[in-house]
Amino acid sequence: QPPNSQTEESCVLKRADCRAKGGAPGFKVAILGAAGGIGQPLAMLMKMNPLVSVLHLYDVVNTPGVTADIGHMDTGAVVRGFLGQPQLENALTGMDLVIIPAGVPRKPGMTRDDLFNINAGIVRTLCEGIAKCCPNAIVNLISNPVNSTVPIAAEVFKKAGTYDPKRLLGVTMLDVVRANTFVAEVLGLHPKEVDVPVVGGHAGVTILPLLSQVKPPSSFTPEETENLTKRIQDGGTEVVQAKAGAGSATLSMAYAAVKFADACLRGLRGDAGVVECAFVASEVTELPFFATKVRLGRRGAEEVYQLGPLNEYERVGLERAKKELAESIQKGLLQQKDLQ
Ligand code: NAD
Ligand code: LMR
Repeated sequence: QPPNSQTEESCVLKRADCRAKGGAPGFKVAILGAAGGIGQPLAMLMKMNPLVSVLHLYDVVNTPGVTADIGHMDTGAVVRGFLGQPQLENALTGMDLVIIPAGVPRKPGMTRDDLFNINAGIVRTLCEGIAKCCPNAIVNLISNPVNSTVPIAAEVFKKAGTYDPKRLLGVTMLDVVRANTFVAEVLGLHPKEVDVPVVGGHAGVTILPLLSQVKPPSSFTPEETENLTKRIQDGGTEVVQAKAGAGSATLSMAYAAVKFADACLRGLRGDAGVVECAFVASEVTELPFFATKVRLGRRGAEEVYQLGPLNEYERVGLERAKKELAESIQKGLLQQKDLQ
């Protein structure tokens, strides 16, 4: 070693030392599926996040290249790559937050549910690893169909005896990001000034934007309400069609995933008032999982908020959303139970 070079381990130790002395906290984050369309920009953006001290990149292909590339960025996080199933346990050990964008994306003409068979198996294997190696980590699950993969993950954790509903969060942040963008366009505002709660789930009619609760308080014509709701519900399909066979949303998803992961890390740090929408175990409706606003804290989704007042259009949408969501949740739970 040249005299001034810092080995990876010494960097980690120095940062851990800083943490012990009350310096800036650094969290350990793993991305599973890190070489994919979402995984690569997500890894880049997480390497730029000052709350991250260690970043583990796991995939079944191409992680050495992605890790070498991202590892040259002159930001604080130490990056390590892990390739293939035999390295999964090392990738996961000691992690505070695990983000999962592993799995196949849609092509034109497919629904998210068409991804169920292949992605269910991928999510199951990865969650078994989490249960074994970092059972206390917060899990951000991106792989589709989220409405079914979250129930699958819950069953895997239950079977392993590690399930904590607060720590398992399906990522629906992209629906909120899209809703903020599209509503801001209509209102003539900067998207940063707009906050649209999006509840339900993450597929078609299960995506329910609550336009009556938009901040700043705004009113929409029936036509605007219908057009905005449909565009938000079909946002994923809009990207799938535009990409014409080359996959689904990756860049906006990486942005949304980092926005959500950063909120989880601020919650873990103990920041007050961190609130985002996520698909979580819930008693807000009769369904066992539902997306609403949640307060993120040291233990994950520490508080799940109620829906708040809905108008007639939203009440009808809620009934339609619950019907489809019930089937997708049941499909995930049953598939996992059948395997036990
Ligand atoms: P992609 O095909 O570009 O990348 C997926 C990556 O997962 C690949 O690098 C692949 O090697 C990896 N992978 C496959 N099996 C794996 C395993 N067993 N372990 C670890 N890694 C594995 O796909 P993408 O565009 O990045 O999308 C990934 C998933 O995210 C898809 O299911 C997609 O539908 C979903 N998605 C969800 C949202 C959301 O809002 N929740 C948004 C966009 C995409
Ligand atoms: C999205 O909303 O963009 C993702 O769920 C990907 C998809 O298949 O639409």
